[in-house]
Amino acid sequence: MTSTAERTQVAIIGAGPAGLMLGHLLHVQGIDSVILEARDKAYVIERVRAGVLEQGTVDLLHEMGVGDRLAREGMRHEGIHLAFSGARHRIDMARLTGGRAITVYGQGEVVKDLIAAREATGRPLLFDVGDVRPIDLESPLPAVRYRVDGEERELRCDFIAGCDGFHGVCRPSIPAGALTVYERTYPFAWLGILARAAPSSDELVYSHNARGFALFSMRSTEVTRLYLQCAPDEDINQWSDDRIWEELLLRLGTEDGWRPNTGPIVQKGVAQMRSFVVDPMCYGRLYLAGDAAHIVPPTGAKGLNLAAADVWRLAGALVDRLRQGSDAGLRAYSEQGLRRAWWAQRFSWWMTSTLHTDEGASTFDRRRQLAELDYLIHSEAAMTSLAENYVGMPFS
Ligand code: FAD
Ligand code: PHB
Repeated sequence: MTSTAERTQVAIIGAGPAGLMLGHLLHVQGIDSVILEARDKAYVIERVRAGVLEQGTVDLLHEMGVGDRLAREGMRHEGIHLAFSGARHRIDMARLTGGRAITVYGQGEVVKDLIAAREATGRPLLFDVGDVRPIDLESPLPAVRYRVDGEERELRCDFIAGCDGFHGVCRPSIPAGALTVYERTYPFAWLGILARAAPSSDELVYSHNARGFALFSMRSTEVTRLYLQCAPDEDINQWSDDRIWEELLLRLGTEDGWRPNTGPIVQKGVAQMRSFVVDPMCYGRLYLAGDAAHIVPPTGAKGLNLAAADVWRLAGALVDRLRQGSDAGLRAYSEQGLRRAWWAQRFSWWMTSTLHTDEGASTFDRRRQLAELDYLIHSEAAMTSLAENYVGMPFS
């Protein structure tokens, strides 16, 4: 086996939304990077995950010059519906936030656009990379060792960006004593499907139901995305397509006759729910961004958006350091990122606990949960709080 030595300014581990966005933000500022991804290109694009982009994420993608298809195909939503006790209630987010909105555009589409932009720059983006090891984190010249096409390589760099998600290698490469972990698990998961069915509502429907939470979302004018609260150890094989539709219709249908359109199910899977934060978000010359540093339950639709906010700040800080020698941004990176991450944790926890049905809850708690929802749709203050968190706080 040969060993090849390489040099770059920023070694980026992971080609999810965080790693790809960071690479492009650095490119625009003339900073070199190499992106190393463990999986193949098709896998990274086809992985079905998030669908809701905050206003700030949309603005960032446009500023980076990767927003053309997003502008054409993304679906701008100015409101969401909350359904409970048989009725749907619209929250007018744009009115409550001075015109801010979310855009529905699948994570796979974001990743596809970012990969195309990276490839157009000619800068390195390596897929199918094995045995990735960040080393010498405390030295001024850290490195990443990895294997590709049977060849062992070593990439020396000024900084390493750990954008390798929750199950990546970067966070575990930090000495355990250097990090504090905050974690919460939930007694439920989501069974998610993609169906070839035209969305029957222009906006998302979050439904609180005694049978369990359900969510109506979409990917295009022909594809509906739906989720059902299920058990964390749910066996997907126990869910025939007919059973999934029956349960979705029971949980989502409202007394005004609204219900999702049904159609062939083209993808299904179970997504776990967890809240997780690591503090600090850096060690030596390794900086963590996105899911590598924090995980939120998907009910608030914040995961991908937090990743975007992280790398926007990290890119600015790295540019200041590498071009002007100023490390103020890098020194503030973790504290600022944790502040946003904790706001998102609070909101995601609140959306999750307000909307899901907990089998262990007392009758008092169930009644209080309904009072919470009733208050929410009748109080301008409560609706404004929901709306400003949902469309997302400004990145700066
Ligand atoms: P990731 O997207 O996880 O990307 C990390 C990348 O690093 C991956 O491509 C991975 O293959 C790569 N990698 C891992 N290990 C290594 C290694 N050793 N070497 C090199 N590369 C490596 N958020 C929402 O807002 N709404 C949702 O509906 C939603 N659904 C989700 C469903 C699932 C099943 C999951 C897991 C997450 C979901 N999320 C959702 C969260 C959202 O998708 C994430 O917050 C977002 O993907 C974070 O982006 P990231 O780039 O930080 O991490
Ligand atoms: C999605 O469309 O996948 C989606 C939408 C809203 C959420 C979570 C997921 O809160």
